[in-house]
Amino acid sequence: MSEKIAIVGSGLIGQNWSMIFAAQGYKVHVFDVDPGQLTRAEQNISRTLTQYEEEGFLRGDSPAAEQTKLVTFTSSLQECLTEAIYVQECVPENLDLKRKVFAQIDQIVSGETVVASSSSCLPASSFTEGLKNRERMLVAHPINPPYFVPLVELVPAPWTKQEALTMARELMEKVGQSPVTLRRESLGFALNRIQYAAINECWNMYQSGLLSAEDIDKVCYDGLGPRYAFIGPLQTMHLNADGIVDYCKRYADGAYNVQKETFKPIPVQYDVETAEKIQAEYNASIPLDKIPDKRKWRDTRLANLAKMKKQLEDK
Ligand code: NAI
Repeated sequence: MSEKIAIVGSGLIGQNWSMIFAAQGYKVHVFDVDPGQLTRAEQNISRTLTQYEEEGFLRGDSPAAEQTKLVTFTSSLQECLTEAIYVQECVPENLDLKRKVFAQIDQIVSGETVVASSSSCLPASSFTEGLKNRERMLVAHPINPPYFVPLVELVPAPWTKQEALTMARELMEKVGQSPVTLRRESLGFALNRIQYAAINECWNMYQSGLLSAEDIDKVCYDGLGPRYAFIGPLQTMHLNADGIVDYCKRYADGAYNVQKETFKPIPVQYDVETAEKIQAEYNASIPLDKIPDKRKWRDTRLANLAKMKKQLEDK
């Protein structure tokens, strides 16, 4: 008998989590307050898994039809949660709603069940305080699209027990995601802190007229991006000299001087006026009505990258 996973909320992220868990043979029970959405999610998961199988992107060893059968849908939260070893909440990013849904979950779960929120920026302490199961509640933040971008940020509330974090981390590894564990709550978790620092510099360079928007993007996807697809910035420093200590001896002054000259005070407000100028540049290559097509293009490339990285790991 395979173990049961509960998914609360069957939108974009809930569907992705469902497919990730089903790929490793878990029985996935999905709950949503909107019955129409449950039907759409069921159809979408079935269609997507079949498509991934045809395209060679399917995760796990079992056929799409078998994985599809592992995912069931219910309008009863009680039925969804009963006997689940792990709950992944995926309702919209709204503090009052998260509070409400976590309070409902708290009434039903018991024992060792770990409950994680997919929240992009709300800390677990803001919606789990006062709940009786709060020691087993945390944030497990995925990156879109989670089926192809494996990082998951595990972020405890001050009262989250180490055992719950360990369980979540081991589960994420088991299903092929790539978890990192923050030691305490931090606004923006880790990814968005790095992402905003990068965007800030892109914004500043654009505003000062140094490069076009398309060229700034190119610096990332044809420069830093390929490098960071395999190793991070700290390891890059380590490899680009005889160790990171040597790197700092050689380059720290230079890096500091660059920052002194170029960095503007933070935070940067991403203003609409600049955004309009950037958008005007994109109007030729990605007009607004072509954004859905370009998203599909991006996701196919991310799928191929995930497949290639997996093949490299297997070698
Ligand atoms: P979504 O809007 O696609 O799906 C939310 C689902 O929750 C809908 O199906 C809705 O019917 C359902 N729902 C609403 N109230 C509910 C309730 N009381 N009980 C059960 N289900 C309920 O949202 P999405 O994009 O899937 O986001 C879910 C969470 O994941 C949010 O916290 C979001 O910040 C986070 N997240 C989203 C990412 C993204 O790129 N979309 C990336 C990483 C995290």
